Amino acid sequence: MDKLLIDGGVPLYGTVAISGAKNAALPLLAATLLAPGDHILHNVPDLRDTRTMLKLLEILGVTWQRTGKTIRINSDHLTGVEAPYDLVKTMRASVLVLGPLLARTGFARVSLPGGCAIGARPINYHLKGFEKLGVTTHLEQGYVEAAVEGRMRGGTVYFDIPSVTGTENVLMAAVAAQGETVIENAAKEPEVGNLVDMLVAMGAKIEGRDTDRLVIHGVQKLTAAESAIIPDRIETGTYMIAVAATGGSVTITDCNPGHLSALTDKLLLCGVNIEEMGESLTVSCPEVDGRSLCRLHSVDITTLPYPGFPTDLQAQFMALMAQGNGTAIIHETIFENRFMHVAELKRLGADIAIEGSRAVVRGIGRDKLCGAPVMATDLRASASLVIAALSASGQTEISRIYHLERGYEDMVDKLQALGARVEKIKA
Ligand code: EPZ
Repeated sequence: MDKLLIDGGVPLYGTVAISGAKNAALPLLAATLLAPGDHILHNVPDLRDTRTMLKLLEILGVTWQRTGKTIRINSDHLTGVEAPYDLVKTMRASVLVLGPLLARTGFARVSLPGGCAIGARPINYHLKGFEKLGVTTHLEQGYVEAAVEGRMRGGTVYFDIPSVTGTENVLMAAVAAQGETVIENAAKEPEVGNLVDMLVAMGAKIEGRDTDRLVIHGVQKLTAAESAIIPDRIETGTYMIAVAATGGSVTITDCNPGHLSALTDKLLLCGVNIEEMGESLTVSCPEVDGRSLCRLHSVDITTLPYPGFPTDLQAQFMALMAQGNGTAIIHETIFENRFMHVAELKRLGADIAIEGSRAVVRGIGRDKLCGAPVMATDLRASASLVIAALSASGQTEISRIYHLERGYEDMVDKLQALGARVEKIKA
């Protein structure tokens, strides 16, 4: 398996362009199943996960071709309604084909995703939502079979937890149901809004975009449309934290600073400079003793549904707080096991103690982390290790970087362009 070799201690300077959001591309790709015709999606990132979703769509009968960042997708002839285990186990977001398949064909058979490194990741809220629309679901041999006689009927769906893909899945089913559907306690992440925009362009009638209450008036017919994927706010935040950790000054373009208020607020409290200019922002660290490094104040965070601090930036922020000048409490409230990066960060010299859903990060100050061999365990944990390695002295070898390639487009090239000493080695 491929590895990354990073020689840390080098401040980052320059400009980096942000790619389309993985967590918007996945539901929007799945939404092309809803209607025949040629769908056009712009700004689609080329990632392991988007390639997996395109493979799943092909299995279902979809054809597609990519030209640069644009993908043309035709779903005239669906030839299957099953998402197989060997594919779903590699990407749990495959469950997002449930809603559109139910809307288009009235039936879907999707392997249960199984857990992953960060938690059990059940889909009970997805299934409960479908049942409110008249769908019957049952589990057999690790697959969930969902079926409805004729058209789904609108209903009221309440999410105990504002599940992001749960909201997206039920939304994609409800747009074709008969009558009105209300989704209460819906997720408000920008990626949900991106899906709403695509569905409306296809002819859906949806009210409450960006709120926790979505009202969907079912329509008889949806048509293929042209849409664009929003910038990846988690990729943006990852680079912002990387600059804060290494020092330097980087302008991040093709992003949406408005999607990152929670992180920006925390980084300013840490002592980092951030200047927002429309679709770009510049992160820099003030000079201290002739070096572009700031005294990193330790700052507490609690992960929350949007617009709270995103759980997908928790691991990266922890790598930063490992170098703080005090103690930071990191409270993870979304997933039950999202501290897999702690043991690996401690191999680099971090001083972190886990107490239930909280990590107590005793900052060891700047320039104190030391490179060592570490192992990536999941997508965002691997980003956390990259950030720590970039600011550690000496060399760090990160194994199992296929995790990283699930969600970060061209990360090695982008970091090298910022002056980082990083290379990918074929194991
Ligand atoms: C989405 O996952 C994202 N993935 C995740 O990003 C992100 O961490 C998460 O939302 C939270 O923001 C995609 O959008 C493809 P949830 P999702 O349903 O939808 C529990 C990344 O790194 N839950 O909002 O699966 C669940 O276990 C990935 O890019 C149930 O119990 O997350 C979790 O504890 C990681 N039953 C909480 O709710 C359900 O039916 C929130 O999960 C659904 C969820």
